[in-house]
Amino acid sequence: QRPLRRLLSCPGTVAADLRREEQSSGNAETGSEDRTPKKRFSVVQNERREQAQRTVLIHCPNNINEKKFLKFLSQHGPVNTHFFYESFGLYAVVEFCQKESVTSLQNITRTPSLGPEAAIPFKSRYFNLKLRTSVNQTSELSSIQCSNQSSPSSKKLYQLLCCAESVDDQLNTLLREFQLTEENTRLRYLTCSLIEDVAAAYFPDCAVRPFGSSVNSFGKLGCDLDMFLDLDEIGKFTAQKTSGNFLMEFQVKNVPSERVATQKILSVIGECLDQFGPGCVGVQRILNARCPLVRFSHQASGFQCDLTANNRIALKSSELLYMYGALDSRVRALVFSVRCWARAHSLTSSIPGAWITNFSLTMMVIFFLQRRSPPILPTLDYLKTLADAEDKCIIEGHNCTFVRDLNRIKPSGNTETLELLLKEFFEYFGNFAFNKNSINIRQGREQNKPESSPLHIQNPFETSLNISKNVSQSQLQKFVDLARESAWILHQEGKDRPSPSSNQPWGLAALLLPSVTNNVPLSKKKKKPASERIKNLLDSIKSSGAENSTATNGR
Ligand code: GTP
Ligand code: MG
Repeated sequence: QRPLRRLLSCPGTVAADLRREEQSSGNAETGSEDRTPKKRFSVVQNERREQAQRTVLIHCPNNINEKKFLKFLSQHGPVNTHFFYESFGLYAVVEFCQKESVTSLQNITRTPSLGPEAAIPFKSRYFNLKLRTSVNQTSELSSIQCSNQSSPSSKKLYQLLCCAESVDDQLNTLLREFQLTEENTRLRYLTCSLIEDVAAAYFPDCAVRPFGSSVNSFGKLGCDLDMFLDLDEIGKFTAQKTSGNFLMEFQVKNVPSERVATQKILSVIGECLDQFGPGCVGVQRILNARCPLVRFSHQASGFQCDLTANNRIALKSSELLYMYGALDSRVRALVFSVRCWARAHSLTSSIPGAWITNFSLTMMVIFFLQRRSPPILPTLDYLKTLADAEDKCIIEGHNCTFVRDLNRIKPSGNTETLELLLKEFFEYFGNFAFNKNSINIRQGREQNKPESSPLHIQNPFETSLNISKNVSQSQLQKFVDLARESAWILHQEGKDRPSPSSNQPWGLAALLLPSVTNNVPLSKKKKKPASERIKNLLDSIKSSGAENSTATNGR
């Protein structure tokens, strides 16, 4: 029945087949079922960072001629790769083969004179290109192909999902459409590198590294860009051994605590970004949060950025998630679907509050996959037993050791389909004893809750912390209700799938579209009394107010 549905309604099947082949052939960086060697997280990070340092961002006139543009740039050295994208204007990302080419380009670039306004003469790698003489617009416009930086519209997603041939195919389609593209990933590393240039005005040997969903392989197009100012390299240079009886130390300013040092550093970097960071707007310094941060928009790339410092554990969490994402091709497909499902039903939000976060949802999926029989993912404790001396990692007294070479972990023998896993995920958490149990990916089994928060997910590295401390009882209940409802929809569907000609959404589409889940007969839904709904609303408002001062709760 399903292949027939596909043939009837989808003329673009060849393209779909090609995409599927492309996907199954695997990707060394993000992992898949094939056993081609997978790169370590640190190797990917270093390669991308070096690539970004050879890259520039150029705001271009709309009528630019690509060939002439590249010819102009190649006067400064060979161009390795480039792409264009649109975001309030046309932009080009150009990666040179050598770093010197960037300096050469900067040397012929002038600071604009803006009439009555004055410019701060900061030589960044973000340029503005102007044409000396105007060219015939229509003849040249067509030559530029823009890379898309945003996720598909709900309508397009709906069409794609309805055209898929199975629920498994739907989950893989959603992953393919929402995952970060090569270009978007490059733009993320480039943005960090541009911010690093600003921070380097104060701390010449600093590094600004992306973490979170931009690098952990679970990022959706449009997700925020979490970055961390790494000053550890500065200390390393002074740690070189010297001979003789003399020991030189830098004269430094001392402050009462590590936290005060972080606040001071972020305060000046925030000020710099605000005062002379090209394209950085809406800079907010949220220094009293548990994890102090500077939040701003990077206008040219369109990214909402959160810059933190002294946040090495979060980078290690990103590495751990990257490993889990690369171990089995089902992991990312399932996480993306659960994240999209949660977003579609407003279980998650971009505003901090009493809702579940994407990070918590990812932990729940990992935990669920550790509980399968045979397990699809190993526990963190097991990954620790595989570690060798070089993997040893202690951060602020916390043991963050685990094996970092992906190829040393045996693939799972579990062959369950994505359709089954999605249904079982909803069933598992629809019936989970949240009132007494804690979710723990370190041991891969439920533990008694050490404290009374409605949802308890143990922080894998700072094990006394709960990463979902912010979640209210009413938000957890909403999650449980929706999980049960979704399990029920998938279960019903398995028995009685709508006919292809009825054009009814099915499978994942039926779970994602709010209009569709709203169609579930009311008798199947537990409608809450008005008093409870108002109480939930008040809870959410109260907690979102409280969260505003601690925007990065639990980190
Ligand atoms: P999205 O931005 O929602 O796509 O996902 P994300 O994983 O990037 O989450 P977020 O931007 O909220 O946080 C960035 C990273 O910070 C996460 O990936 C985690 O590594 C870390 N993090 C976020 N929240 C917590 C938390 O409550 N506890 C701990 N320990 N780390 C957290
Ligand atoms: Mg993020």
